[in-house]
Amino acid sequence: MLKLAKLFLLLILLSPFEAKGVQDSTLIRELSQMFQSSMTYIFQNQPLINQRAGDKSSLFGRRFIADVKATYQHQFGQPFAEQEHWLKLVMVRVMIEVMEDNRTLIFDEDIGYKGLIPAIFAFQLSAKLATKGQGLNIKFTSTPNMIRNQLNLPDAWEIVVMEKIRVLGLKDYIDPQAVFEGKPATRLFTPLKLKRLCLNCHGTPKQNPLNAGKARAQWTNIDVTGFVMENWQYGDFGGGVSVSIYEQDE
Ligand code: HEC
Repeated sequence: MLKLAKLFLLLILLSPFEAKGVQDSTLIRELSQMFQSSMTYIFQNQPLINQRAGDKSSLFGRRFIADVKATYQHQFGQPFAEQEHWLKLVMVRVMIEVMEDNRTLIFDEDIGYKGLIPAIFAFQLSAKLATKGQGLNIKFTSTPNMIRNQLNLPDAWEIVVMEKIRVLGLKDYIDPQAVFEGKPATRLFTPLKLKRLCLNCHGTPKQNPLNAGKARAQWTNIDVTGFVMENWQYGDFGGGVSVSIYEQDE
């Protein structure tokens, strides 16, 4: 009986379904990582985005993608092979389009602080992907009590998974048999920890760069983007990246 069970297990492990599952999990992780790298790149390039003049060509088109790929290589220790899967191509195209949408803002010499921060780039990318109908959804989200933009609110799957990740301390969570907006989906949630740089906005007024060099009585608890700072701490759960690859209607 035990032997039979073992054989059965082996059959499942060797079945083509499993092979597809493994492939999906690599793909979905790579998509999440590419999204994370683009946010890192947008963060690193805040001075370039906000400066009033100069050469900003590295923020557009293939130059932008080449730089985000270099960031990916640095962050995850492997290349992002765009040609390998059409969903990766979709993602790259949407990234270029989002930067193109912001071209006028980025070159506006009257505005110093442009507000094109990673969370805003992420939000615009999600919104644009949703209009493409390619069966790919990406979202930067957090627990309902931690959300700044109500449009980033988590769905039921994300709420349960964030709780599991927090309780069990998981690195990420993948579910090949999930549902996304009523459709069968493979879903991945990758949590992010709050780093020092996040606390410029999500931390305490002491960490707000706007308060640097000012007397405590003059400090503001409003961050540079106009939101009330949350007083979160270094290393705390900082939300995460949620990716869904879902089946489309025929
Ligand atoms: C320059 C200020 C700033 C910094 C730095 C910053 N954030 Fe945010 N964050 C925001 C703003 C503003 C939003 C809302 C964006 C929107 O309107 O969609 C946001 C949204 C988010 C969201 C999406 C859910 C929501 O609240 O709408 C998460 C998750 C998040 N931030 C986590 C982080 C993490 C983790 C870091 C550091 C890696 C970080 N943030 C750094 C300002 C900042």
